[in-house]
Amino acid sequence: MAGRGAVGLLLAAALLGFLQTSSTFQVKDPDGKLCLSANFSMEFTVEFSTKSKKENTTFALPPDAHVIKNASTCGNKQAPEEILVVGFGKGHLLNMTFEKKNASLYVVSALMFKFNLSDSSLFPNLSGEVTEVKKGSDIQADLNTKYLCHSNKLITTGNVSVLLSNVVIEAYITNDTISKKETICSEDKRFTTTLPVITTHIPSTTSVPPSAKPEVGKYTVNGSSGICLLASMGLQLNLTYSIQNKNLSKVLNLPPNANSSGKCDNLTVTLNLTSGSTNISLNFAQNSSTEKYFLRGILVTANLPTEATEKSIKAVNNSLSALKATIGKSYKCVAEEIIWVSDKASLNIYNVQIQAFKIAGDKFGAVEECQLDENNMLIPIVVGAALAGLVLIVMIAYLIGRKRSHAGYQTI
Ligand SMILES: *[C@@H]1O[C@H](CO)[C@@H](O)[C@H](O)[C@H]1NC(C)=O
Ligand SMILES: *[C@@H]1O[C@H](CO)[C@@H](O)[C@H](O)[C@H]1NC(C)=O
Ligand SMILES: *[C@@H]1O[C@H](CO)[C@@H](O)[C@H](O)[C@H]1NC(C)=O
Ligand SMILES: *[C@@H]1O[C@H](CO)[C@@H](O)[C@H](O)[C@H]1NC(C)=O
Ligand SMILES: *[C@@H]1O[C@H](CO)[C@@H](O)[C@H](O)[C@H]1NC(C)=O
Ligand SMILES: *[C@@H]1O[C@H](CO)[C@@H](O)[C@H](O)[C@H]1NC(C)=O
Ligand SMILES: *[C@@H]1O[C@H](CO)[C@@H](O)[C@H](O)[C@H]1NC(C)=O
Ligand SMILES: *[C@@H]1O[C@H](CO)[C@@H](O)[C@H](O)[C@H]1NC(C)=O
Ligand SMILES: *[C@@H]1O[C@H](CO)[C@@H](O)[C@H](O)[C@H]1NC(C)=O
Ligand SMILES: *[C@@H]1O[C@H](CO)[C@@H](O)[C@H](O)[C@H]1NC(C)=O
Ligand SMILES: *[C@@H]1O[C@H](CO)[C@@H](O)[C@H](O)[C@H]1NC(C)=O
Ligand SMILES: *[C@@H]1O[C@H](CO)[C@@H](O)[C@H](O)[C@H]1NC(C)=O
Repeated sequence: MAGRGAVGLLLAAALLGFLQTSSTFQVKDPDGKLCLSANFSMEFTVEFSTKSKKENTTFALPPDAHVIKNASTCGNKQAPEEILVVGFGKGHLLNMTFEKKNASLYVVSALMFKFNLSDSSLFPNLSGEVTEVKKGSDIQADLNTKYLCHSNKLITTGNVSVLLSNVVIEAYITNDTISKKETICSEDKRFTTTLPVITTHIPSTTSVPPSAKPEVGKYTVNGSSGICLLASMGLQLNLTYSIQNKNLSKVLNLPPNANSSGKCDNLTVTLNLTSGSTNISLNFAQNSSTEKYFLRGILVTANLPTEATEKSIKAVNNSLSALKATIGKSYKCVAEEIIWVSDKASLNIYNVQIQAFKIAGDKFGAVEECQLDENNMLIPIVVGAALAGLVLIVMIAYLIGRKRSHAGYQTI
């Protein structure tokens, strides 16, 4: 029973964490001038040992994360390091130390994590604290530029691994303003400089030229109290892999007869689609305070062409906020939606109508159109209104003309 409670708490904590996407942390010097600004999402996996076995706990930086002002510093002549210390939860700490490597470069020279093991919502039945320090990192940028990295970056130190994403950081800020210039991380560059598209056949999942749209499949997930997910959509994977250091991309359409399974509880709904060696798992969450549900997580596994350096790909992103609609209503989008999963994978969704959690009468509820469709609708509406206006003007002109000519006859 106690175990269940802990799992529940952990789930709730994880969910709370995931709902929050990215936080901003700023450090100012004693004169109130900004010297450091950081925006990122972070997810921790901590391995800990209980009496009988090793266990992992995973959680995201929660919304209560805040800069600990008296431990953070802009540095000075004697100690030129800039230090950002972020506290969260029940006494957990994250410490990021920045240094100037030379006259034109700054780096994250150390990362430190300190977790309070007495926090039973994250670590059941433990006590004490665990500290991990990582010296050096490949996070570096030119001075007077901000470091940008949209891609996931995994940093592992001892028993803690950290997944960083959506990073915007600038240290050694001059003149109190964040620079407009950017240093883009190598992971993001790799993603944007994908060169030729070649397609090879992968058994069981249709490998297609990039223009072919996927066929629409219909999927349902049943829970203990009826249907908890209804979906009608075409799914396409866009995978990036390398052959002899060249980046290539491969587009795979999920066939509409893919095996579907899934599960649901009060907090999450999972749809798991499998075709051959390709698996797409979609995880939906709900935010009860805003009455919205949304696609929070995507897990993709697929085989890559035999010539590829990597034999298969596994990509995960658990901090999404896509396909968002009000609970009880369905999300609809005719336009193609591209959902970024990692620097190696994206999911293209075509012609989607989907509803998760509450589904009255096992049918789609009222439709909430996506923004893309609403924008597309605007053009026909404007054209239609203009045409209607024109017809009206012609009719009025005709009526006036007829009246005039009538009047003309009478005078004769
Ligand atoms: C940091 O993230 C917040 C919340 O996502 C956003 O409002 C803000 O504009 C971001 N700042 C920068 C500098 O990207
Ligand atoms: C961290 O890992 C080491 C070796 O794997 C282990 O001995 C230690 O107990 C771990 N720390 C915690 C807090 O579990
Ligand atoms: C915990 O996670 C790490 C990194 O993801 C992994 O290497 C390790 O095997 C996991 N340990 C357990 C007990 O699941
Ligand atoms: C920072 O402030 C807190 C209280 O706000 C205090 O408990 C702590 O000792 C201070 N730490 C340092 C390094 O001054
Ligand atoms: C660690 O967590 C326990 C239990 O929540 C709490 O009582 C304690 O104050 C925390 N320690 C720190 C340093 O915040
Ligand atoms: C943060 O790390 C730096 C070294 O990287 C250290 O000097 C400083 O004391 C640490 N601060 C806290 C609050 O742990
Ligand atoms: C600073 O260091 C980087 C990498 O170590 C190097 O590429 C760059 O040329 C150096 N710049 C200066 C001004 O020394
Ligand atoms: C927690 O620890 C106590 C004392 O070591 C033990 O009696 C209890 O069974 C443990 N509970 C769990 C859920 O492991
Ligand atoms: C610093 O900011 C002030 C006012 O915002 C501006 O006038 C000045 O040109 C800036 N200096 C530099 C070096 O960017
Ligand atoms: C697949 O991804 C690559 C690299 O981002 C991009 O150039 C290409 O247009 C994408 N293809 C499709 C069909 O989305
Ligand atoms: C799920 O919600 C139902 C009704 O609101 C409630 O009876 C049930 O206890 C909840 N289950 C869990 C695991 O929270
Ligand atoms: C999805 O289903 C496949 C087999 O149908 C299974 O091997 C896999 O573990 C499932 N994945 C998830 C995330 O449930």
